[in-house]
Amino acid sequence: MIRHRFAFTHALPTVLFAMSLAGCGGGSSDPPSAAAPEPASTEVTAALLERGAGVYKANCIPCHGPLGKGDGPSSAMLDPKPRDHSNRTYMDQLTDQQIANTIVQGGAPKYPNMPSHPHLRGEDLVAIVAHVRTLGRGRDEVTTVELAAK
Ligand code: HEC
Repeated sequence: MIRHRFAFTHALPTVLFAMSLAGCGGGSSDPPSAAAPEPASTEVTAALLERGAGVYKANCIPCHGPLGKGDGPSSAMLDPKPRDHSNRTYMDQLTDQQIANTIVQGGAPKYPNMPSHPHLRGEDLVAIVAHVRTLGRGRDEVTTVELAAK
């Protein structure tokens, strides 16, 4: 019970931090809205995928492995193992937004071994979601990424 509470309250500042970054620079006349913003569609280009592969290599390969199969060097000590991004059946159940949220906020409380990456945002976040999609769907089938907050 105490553990659970910790995981939950720990995730919240990360969310607020990410939101404040995304929300900066807007007009002061915009009232804070409880409704989720409309997802923005980003076209997936070769340059975006190249960027995504680089960010993935730097942040995710140690656990998820080069092909996203969950078999990176650090995965040996993790139970459950990191998610297999090449498992299309599973990955297709997740929206782009859910994948992005897991990357930024981490997996707690559901998957506590998946760390948060609050430094990944903007184009880097879009690019990494696009790259993760190619691991399950193949390059040709990844044409757009839909994310509310970039
Ligand atoms: C410290 C090891 C580690 C690192 C680093 C890591 N992950 Fe994970 N990841 C995990 C584990 C463990 C899970 C949860 C597997 C489970 O519980 O089924 C997970 C789950 C996920 C999921 C699935 C969430 C779901 O809803 O099922 C996604 C997507 C993901 N990671 C993406 C990434 C990306 C992208 C990066 C790099 C930015 C990354 N991870 C870095 C260990 C890691």
